[in-house]
Amino acid sequence: MTSRKLSQRSQTLSPFHVMDILAQAKILSQQGKTICHLEIGEPDFATAQPIIEAGIDALKQHKTHYTPALGLAELRHAIAEYYDRKFSQVVDPQRIIITPGASGALQLALTCLLDAGDNVLLADPGYPCNRNIAQVLAAEAITIPVNAENCYQLDARAVAQHWKARTRAAMVATPSNPTGTVLPKAQLTALAQLIERKQGRLIVDEIYQGLVYEDEDYTALEISDECFVINSFSKYFGMTGWRLGWMVVPECYVDVIDRIAQNIFLAPPTMSQYAALTALKIETQVLLDARRDEFKQRRDFLLPALEQMGFEIAAKPQAAFYIYANCEKFTDDSFNWVKKLLNKQGVALTPGIDFGSNRANIHCRFAYTQSLEILQQAVDKIDAFIHK
Ligand SMILES: Cc1ncc(COP(=O)(O)O)c(C=O)c1O
Repeated sequence: MTSRKLSQRSQTLSPFHVMDILAQAKILSQQGKTICHLEIGEPDFATAQPIIEAGIDALKQHKTHYTPALGLAELRHAIAEYYDRKFSQVVDPQRIIITPGASGALQLALTCLLDAGDNVLLADPGYPCNRNIAQVLAAEAITIPVNAENCYQLDARAVAQHWKARTRAAMVATPSNPTGTVLPKAQLTALAQLIERKQGRLIVDEIYQGLVYEDEDYTALEISDECFVINSFSKYFGMTGWRLGWMVVPECYVDVIDRIAQNIFLAPPTMSQYAALTALKIETQVLLDARRDEFKQRRDFLLPALEQMGFEIAAKPQAAFYIYANCEKFTDDSFNWVKKLLNKQGVALTPGIDFGSNRANIHCRFAYTQSLEILQQAVDKIDAFIHK
């Protein structure tokens, strides 16, 4: 038998530690234990019915062939209209690229910006896949520790300090995963200006747009046309499994991204693109906004409940469906603490280590992607665990 040969890059790719938690949760639930899943970063709601029906209609009408690599023209126009309606922002549909999830967009953006040996600046804590995509490209992800003072987001000062000769881009997610914090518009403006002066590119991941409970829900396109803006149908639109996202890029990148997309994905999923046309309709947004209001209610329940138990939440999460809590009062090894909490009480959380190394050992992430009833049960169980 031929021995297994692996590229070095694939061998050093870091795993999601939450997968260990999920595997353990599965064993426990097979043993009949009820698990409160607060580790899952996707809406618990099923995709809204009109979107499902649009997907089924597309299949019935045999819309099952490839679309252009950049996506259906109709959908690119509908997204342009969405920016106009929601943010009074005129965006040329030619600059809008449909992708297999925000994940596809992140791969395309980094592939077209980074050569082997180049680097991209990222926040720590932050969404872990970006580091790994950079690594797959033989590029480097330089992580910058962020904290509550800068809303757990990169700012111009930190980026200027870390910018090197081979830095090509900086990447932010606003609202952020895992902290649910929004990058203040003035902070993003200063960042965009700095990066333009450096002749680099700013990549702004807006996947949690639409799930903002306080402050302004804005798009980086209001600030600059020079950045890469990434979005998705996964979160606000509740379509995680449909694998559809988009990216708005400076015009001069469209042709090269077309070429990369043709080679890597060929095309985004056709059925999902037709369903997304319905997701963008005003009538559907009424349903999606009601879900957003429910997420807000959950946050308003969970945040004070965690604080009362002794978790410290240094920056109030204004958006998404995450609370990034300091659990230093209870442990200095949050990964093991999370495992014990699961085994003893059946509550699953994501340990800080999945989001980087900046004080990760004293943090964990709560996802309020469960009903208020389940959140109440989880709070009671965590309370019992802490005060055992
Ligand atoms: C910040 C961020 N970006 C991108 C993604 C990828 O999302 P998708 O590929 O489902 O659109 C996620 C998923 O959790 C995320 O949290």
